[in-house]
Amino acid sequence: LAQAHKTVAEEVDRAPLAAAESALAQAIRLRRSVRHFLPGRVPDGTIANLIREAAWAPSPHNSQPWGFTVLADDARTRLAYAMAESLRADLARQGMSTAEIEAQASKSVTRISQAPNALLCSATADGLRLTGDPTLDSLETKMATQSLGAVLQTLFLLAAEQGIATCWMAAPMYCPETVRAVLHLPPGYEPQALILFGFAADSGRVRPRRSVEELVEFR
Ligand SMILES: Cc1cc2nc3c(=O)[nH]c(=O)nc-3n(C[C@H](O)[C@H](O)[C@H](O)COP(=O)(O)O)c2cc1C
Repeated sequence: LAQAHKTVAEEVDRAPLAAAESALAQAIRLRRSVRHFLPGRVPDGTIANLIREAAWAPSPHNSQPWGFTVLADDARTRLAYAMAESLRADLARQGMSTAEIEAQASKSVTRISQAPNALLCSATADGLRLTGDPTLDSLETKMATQSLGAVLQTLFLLAAEQGIATCWMAAPMYCPETVRAVLHLPPGYEPQALILFGFAADSGRVRPRRSVEELVEFR
């Protein structure tokens, strides 16, 4: 066991060296949440290719329980305004001042409308093994949601490699009914993330990471 720990520790030590060498490792470091984009759009064909390749990500029983909705301008504008309306109601319930509510709502609309491209990612029940047992089904659904992180990170890395910057927005999770209604989503779609993307105008802020010592325990 001690030897196994030593081997893992040595591999962790060697990681920075590998990071300098491998294209994948470079894409991992290059990917950042970027919130400023150049004017040009990413063509639909490129988006479809990115999604096709990202779908090699792992999922429970290979269910691939995800659905992507590429948003055209009008759909996106309708979505931005509808989500802002829902945000206003949420913030009012929290007791925020009208001025602050308006500032936040209009910031959200501007962000969503000004990004060159927007993509909604939904969790679906496709291929899930639902049994009717609430505990098991809840775990199955959680696994489906976990796999969305895998498919999206894969997509982000493939995009970063092509100079396409992405930013994950959690907003749809707060108003799933609104999103479903505005976009006429297929039955069973659970909106999870709105991805804003385009060619990067800047390289984004580098946000520090916790050290490996803090993250890892060897037992
Ligand atoms: C589940 C999830 C939800 C996020 N939601 C938002 C969001 O609503 N708005 C936003 O600007 N960034 C959002 N982000 C991006 C994070 O802020 C970002 O990944 C984090 O600060 C690390 O920065 P980096 O991606 O540039 O490395 C989200 C990221 C994840 C994984």
